[in-house]
Amino acid sequence: MSSLTVTGGRALSGEIRLQGAKNSALPILAASILSAGETVIENVPDLTDVDAALEILKHLGCKTEFTDRTVWVDSTTLTRADIPDGLMRRMRSSVLFLGPILARTGEATLSMPGGCELGPRPIDLHLAAMERLGATVEERGGNLICRAPKLRGARIDLTAPSVGATENSMIAASGAAGVTLITNAAREPEIRDLGCFLAALGVRVRGAGTSTVTVEGGRLRDRARYRVIPDRIAAATYIAAVAAARGRIALRGICERDLTAVSDAFRQMGVCLLYRGDTLLVSAGERIGPPLTVTTRPYPGFPTDAQPPLMAACLRAPGTSVFVETIFENRYRHVPELLRMGADVRVDGRVAIVRGGRPLHGAIVAAPDLRGGAALAVAALMAEGETRIIETRHISRGYEDMARDLRALGAVAETED
Ligand code: EPZ
Repeated sequence: MSSLTVTGGRALSGEIRLQGAKNSALPILAASILSAGETVIENVPDLTDVDAALEILKHLGCKTEFTDRTVWVDSTTLTRADIPDGLMRRMRSSVLFLGPILARTGEATLSMPGGCELGPRPIDLHLAAMERLGATVEERGGNLICRAPKLRGARIDLTAPSVGATENSMIAASGAAGVTLITNAAREPEIRDLGCFLAALGVRVRGAGTSTVTVEGGRLRDRARYRVIPDRIAAATYIAAVAAARGRIALRGICERDLTAVSDAFRQMGVCLLYRGDTLLVSAGERIGPPLTVTTRPYPGFPTDAQPPLMAACLRAPGTSVFVETIFENRYRHVPELLRMGADVRVDGRVAIVRGGRPLHGAIVAAPDLRGGAALAVAALMAEGETRIIETRHISRGYEDMARDLRALGAVAETED
């Protein structure tokens, strides 16, 4: 079991280049099988979730290579249309392969994706969208069997702006005859990025990144090259690190427009953010505050994935911060671990009350999930002494090498296998 040990109390100083966006790379890797050809995807982060997506591509019969953050996929040799239980369980986002497999082969068999640490992760919106496009969906023996000899363009009215359901709809619609209209679509930057990738494949896409998207399938190119956008949640995590530890850092390769709600929240608590082109200068002094009231919302609201790291940073702001988590029902699993470090946080359902300004002390804590693990690393930077974070496999799902990045920013951080 690997662990990350962070010694707190040092102000940060240094710079890093941001990794590519995990939540953009995953749907784009899934969409790469739409056409029988070769795609080259650049700026792909080196993560265990990306490894899981490449395992699925190989299971389907594709050839893949991943070197120096560039993935090459040859999907001409795709022969299968199923994702077995083991691969589905490795990564909840495997459901993103449903639309692509259906569009490419006319059928798809996936084992029912389980819930995850964040709570039940239903896929009803994904399945309803596939049915709107002409697929039949049958559940048999814990497997989902979808069939669509020919997908037809349709109107898909999403009852919630689900990121994954929007992405599955866009990708499946790319292989459908005719035009598909998706309403109440998620507007996250990663959706816009997927739309740009699909356009590189020759798909006519309009409105990706807005709540109304139209997709017209047709002849797909047999090769495309695309570069993934920067990871805005990794950026939010390292901004939280400075807010917690004090200091001044530079984050390179950043996209300011993707971070509006995040920038507003940190500026409200006295963190200084200066965007210069694709570089963000972040600084925080001895005191931060006032405390915040933050409600997570679908984009362009405050992102749920940045809630745990921001909560950790709020532990330094004297006073009471209030969090309302509206997206996932179980996204405060980092709180019991923060309490072990001396934090004062009370959770009541979707609401967390954070009393900041108290000193934290190092402890042995366990990463409960990806962003909860990131929150513990942020808290460790401001804690007195050494904090050892175990179960860091969760952190490796979404951060290339947190110890490497924290050291580059001047922190004392070591990984032990
Ligand atoms: C994506 O998950 C991200 N993952 C998540 O990031 C992110 O937290 C989430 O969007 C919200 O922004 C990837 O992009 C790989 P949703 P996704 O469908 O697509 C409910 C991280 O830390 N829902 O927008 O699964 C669902 O239960 C991860 O990087 C249905 O009810 O999110 C949840 O309450 C964690 N039925 C809400 O919608 C459905 O069919 C939002 O889910 C689908 C979703």
